[in-house]
Amino acid sequence: MFITFEGIDGSGKSTQAALFSKWLIEHKQRRAILTREPGGWPGGALLRDLVVSGSLRHQWSEAFLFMLDRAEHVATVIQPALDSGSDVVCERYHDSTLAYQVWGRGLPLDTFDQLAKLSAFPVPDLTVLFDISPERGLRRAKSRGKLDSFEKEGISFMTKIRDGYLALSKRDPDRWLIIECTEESSEEVFSILIKSLVSRGIFCDK
Ligand code: TMP
Repeated sequence: MFITFEGIDGSGKSTQAALFSKWLIEHKQRRAILTREPGGWPGGALLRDLVVSGSLRHQWSEAFLFMLDRAEHVATVIQPALDSGSDVVCERYHDSTLAYQVWGRGLPLDTFDQLAKLSAFPVPDLTVLFDISPERGLRRAKSRGKLDSFEKEGISFMTKIRDGYLALSKRDPDRWLIIECTEESSEEVFSILIKSLVSRGIFCDK
């Protein structure tokens, strides 16, 4: 299965993605890889630094870089793993581009829909959205240290991203699972995630 984890900055998706891939391997005896965007392929670190540095000037530059990052990530990591029968847990994917570059930056949705189709990006079987208020997300991002260029955009930008995610989840509700994160610990959020999967009949086989 191809499972993507999404959310605004500070939503806790990295912790959950790590716990989830470990759970797939240890509790479900599945083959699974954990990867992420941007930068989850050999050579991706350079691109990641460039795109989160805030130094790009043309309004399409960051969008092109995220699409290039995804294309190489799909070709070198995601598709080979899926083809070999492994599960792929990916922290951020095309929905991040839709939420950040379309809802956040105001670029056109249909262009990115077409590009994803043209590029034959595999569509996730499941996308988990960790939904957190922008205020709490930014507080958590700040507590981790230096903010990247997206986090520095502040509450109003993060509010647009969150609205984007919620709108995207309504376009394709069968693919999306929304986990509301309020004051729970990461262990509690993980337990809610597993219960939600079970109630949807996902990964109940063993
Ligand atoms: P990260 O902090 O989750 O690793 O991601 C770095 C930043 O990149 C984050 O603020 C979200 C942003 N981003 C986009 O704007 N578009 C994208 O397509 C992706 C994958 C990430």
